[in-house]
Amino acid sequence: MTQTDKVDFSDVRWGSVEWTNLCTLYLRAYESHSPAPILGDHAAADAVDRIEYDWARMRRAMRPGSNQYMVTMRAKQLDDWSADFLRRHPDAVVLHLGCGMDTRAFRLHPPETVQWFDVDQPDVIALRRKLYDDRDGYRMIGSSVTDKWLDEVPTDHPTLVVAEGLLMYLTESEVRTLLQRLTDRFGGGELVFDTVSPMGPRLSKVLTKGITKWGIRDARQIEQWNPRLRFLDQSSVGALYERIPSAPLRLLWRLIDATPMRNYDVLNRFAF
Ligand SMILES: C[S@@+](CC[C@H](N)C(=O)[O-])C[C@H]1O[C@@H](n2cnc3c(N)ncnc32)[C@H](O)[C@@H]1O
Repeated sequence: MTQTDKVDFSDVRWGSVEWTNLCTLYLRAYESHSPAPILGDHAAADAVDRIEYDWARMRRAMRPGSNQYMVTMRAKQLDDWSADFLRRHPDAVVLHLGCGMDTRAFRLHPPETVQWFDVDQPDVIALRRKLYDDRDGYRMIGSSVTDKWLDEVPTDHPTLVVAEGLLMYLTESEVRTLLQRLTDRFGGGELVFDTVSPMGPRLSKVLTKGITKWGIRDARQIEQWNPRLRFLDQSSVGALYERIPSAPLRLLWRLIDATPMRNYDVLNRFAF
């Protein structure tokens, strides 16, 4: 299969985890067509072009035009931190946990010396394999991050761990164990991830059958869980709002960023 073949995703069930991955893929692709994109994820646009799916229905559900910025501003900050790490460590190993259909491995254009691992649940990786193949420097691993998969990853390189939209779906005990396993196994590197506030699991009990399990008031507390983890930086999801081209949406995000709502989904960068 070449990277231009059409792939049929019509059996992805509306509302499933795989569908949520198509939602964020679609929003990133949509934003890449903007004259002044924040993320500019052209790899997502290529993927959407290749995937046969009911994109018209997706468009009605996602209402792009106003909804893409949450996804693209979050991805952009995590991309910038990741790119900065890869500039300093062109021989890095990257663990992209809960990758879904995200194209970070392609849109960052990592040097050939980087070994990139996209990790997600087996069903998600099976779908992802319809789109992409493993190749030199790029591998997909179908496993829960809470299972045994780390044995497949080399340990003798600086290691970047990226977890976007993942940790809130684990229990606190699973997050603690995962962070411990990562810092026990790898010599050093950085971890970039988002966390939601404790409001996340509370709202989820009412709105989304409790799928969001873990929230934390201030992710800096994680330093106290694990002495290997050193806090480096933090940012709200909306911090890049000044780059939104539409004036009304810029104002909306400016207001969000000026209220406690800015603490709902926070981006964090740690060294270990
Ligand atoms: C909200 S999606 C985010 C996907 C992608 N990071 C993005 O931003 O588009 C959450 C992803 O986390 C994955 N996930 C949830 N729990 C997981 C686990 N225990 N192990 C591996 N992946 C998991 C889901 O399968 C899903 O692909």
